[in-house]
Amino acid sequence: MTVTDRHGRELRNLRLSVTDRCNLRCSYCMPEEEYGWLPKRDILDFEELSTLVDAFLLAGVDKVRLTGGEPLVRRDVEVLVGLLAQKRGITDLALTTNGILLGEHAAALKRAGLGRVTVSLDTLRPERFLKLTRRDSHADVLAGLEAARAAGFTHTKIDSVILRGTNDDELAALIEHGKQLDAEVRFIEYMDVGGATNWSMDEVLPKREMLERLRAEYGPILPLHEHGSAPAERFLLPDGTVFGIIASTTEPFCARCDRSRVTADGTWFQCLYARIGVDLRAKLRAGATREELAALIQRVWTGRTDRGAEVRLAEHERGALAPRDELVQNVHLEMHKRGG
Ligand code: GTP
Ligand code: 5AD
Ligand code: SF4
Repeated sequence: MTVTDRHGRELRNLRLSVTDRCNLRCSYCMPEEEYGWLPKRDILDFEELSTLVDAFLLAGVDKVRLTGGEPLVRRDVEVLVGLLAQKRGITDLALTTNGILLGEHAAALKRAGLGRVTVSLDTLRPERFLKLTRRDSHADVLAGLEAARAAGFTHTKIDSVILRGTNDDELAALIEHGKQLDAEVRFIEYMDVGGATNWSMDEVLPKREMLERLRAEYGPILPLHEHGSAPAERFLLPDGTVFGIIASTTEPFCARCDRSRVTADGTWFQCLYARIGVDLRAKLRAGATREELAALIQRVWTGRTDRGAEVRLAEHERGALAPRDELVQNVHLEMHKRGG
């Protein structure tokens, strides 16, 4: 049964973070020297995660994406994938990864029943990768992408966050790399979300400018004019290649947003920018049934009004969403806690 919020948006899409830990330190996501981690006792085990997913399926969700931090650092994540893959209500089971551990895990994930992977890759230059992520793992990511293909994954996507002055000269190179791997590349505007404490509009490369640069390189570009809920707008190059742009910063898609996100400790946020979440872990551990959790989820979603990215767009003097000390107090605000 689907349910709609105050703006008529359906709840369809669940992003489930399985860990807040990450093996990279991307400048747009985790720029600080030190981070606090969610206490181990609060992290949901696979049975609890599976029950929560059942509740969201009962509440109307049919797309589930595992996220992190980096989901592949969660031990035995394939076992969770196997549990979820058996659920009939899921039409699309996907995972967003930075790719470092994909070489090790791709075949097991495929066997466990994972439908698709999306791999983050912002640059094709190892030295730039090191600067951007503070880890020397570029070759592992490239190998991870190859391994996904070898394991039989299709419809793979490559997500590239584009920062002006850092990797904005690699748009065409990334598209060409995607072509070789039969993966669709999506360029993401730098967002002013929780953990992006160094965010400034000067470093955002707006969708309009991305298109101008690609037009200069490839010639005319056709928009595909789809009206789904997906965050990416897709475009066609003259040679038939399709790519996407996620313009969350300059052209938010809040009006079509069907998303929810649950952190690894079971806190449920409807909006990427939300400051307050719902503690589902407490309910779960107090013995709430799937049906009771589903009823709560539907009740909360029905009252939902969030349009976080649109609200930010309307602000005149725009800097990072939250000052550093707020992030220390409100740890769930960070993107690596709520999984994008
Ligand atoms: P599919 O289109 O089903 O493949 O999934 P997806 O695009 O939702 O997944 P992915 O994890 O690849 O998300 C891509 C990026 O879009 C994220 O990493 C964020 O940068 C951004 N994004 C994801 N969800 C939201 C959201 O709810 N609001 C906004 N404004 N941006 C989001
Ligand atoms: N802006 C845009 N995307 C971000 N991500 C994390 N932080 C940001 C940000 N500030 C997204 C990237 C990455 C995914 C895991 O999270 O798309 O690929
Ligand atoms: Fe949805 Fe909030 Fe993202 Fe807008 S900012 S698309 S309402 S999650």
